[in-house]
Amino acid sequence: MNTAPTKIAVLVSGGGTNLQALIDAEKKGIITSGKIELVISNKPGAYALTRAENAGIRTAVINNKEYATREAFEAEVKSVLKENGIELIILAGFMCILTESFTSCYPKRIINVHPSLIPSFCGEGFYGLKVHEAALSYGVKVTGATVHFVNEIPDGGQIILQRAVYIEPQDTPEILQKRVMQEAEWNILPEAAELVSKEIKEKGEEYEHIQG
Ligand code: GAR
Repeated sequence: MNTAPTKIAVLVSGGGTNLQALIDAEKKGIITSGKIELVISNKPGAYALTRAENAGIRTAVINNKEYATREAFEAEVKSVLKENGIELIILAGFMCILTESFTSCYPKRIINVHPSLIPSFCGEGFYGLKVHEAALSYGVKVTGATVHFVNEIPDGGQIILQRAVYIEPQDTPEILQKRVMQEAEWNILPEAAELVSKEIKEKGEEYEHIQG
């Protein structure tokens, strides 16, 4: 068994409250099988980068808008992940959809947090506040969050953990977003990070290999 913690990269685009939940979980000993080695943002100036710097975590900005093609952007992300020996990628509010040529290189090694109970309100076009707007306008009474493996289908990979959150009569998209984060995302993302890190660490060579 490999004794070193699984090397984690967290990919972000915005405020990074889920990144903060991961950093705090590592400090509290909720994540012990993995270590956040690197934070990559596709958005220069994202507050998530400040959170990483405050925690002493290496950061990289890879601005997708500076690359002519999605393939060129993803090639740069891959090369930075490789340079840092990353074994597990966590998408925490990362707002770029990754292509199959990227996701197929990391089988069962990319996880994502999505702010609904998949398969509701997910897939292309459902991100951030839009997910909560859709849930409220449909009139569902229960929503929540999901952590899942990432494959070529947006929000379509195997589910790892889910947590339900009740909708309250006075909810606005903003109020609901905050409650889903507090009651669901900030708990299940660290829990799933520990589960998958542990499996990668314990299975070692028997775990799915990084391709390319
Ligand atoms: C979170 O609610 C996350 O689940 C969502 O964006 C927010 C990012 O917040 N992600 C998606 O909608 C992906 N489809 P954060 O930057 O504060 O973690």
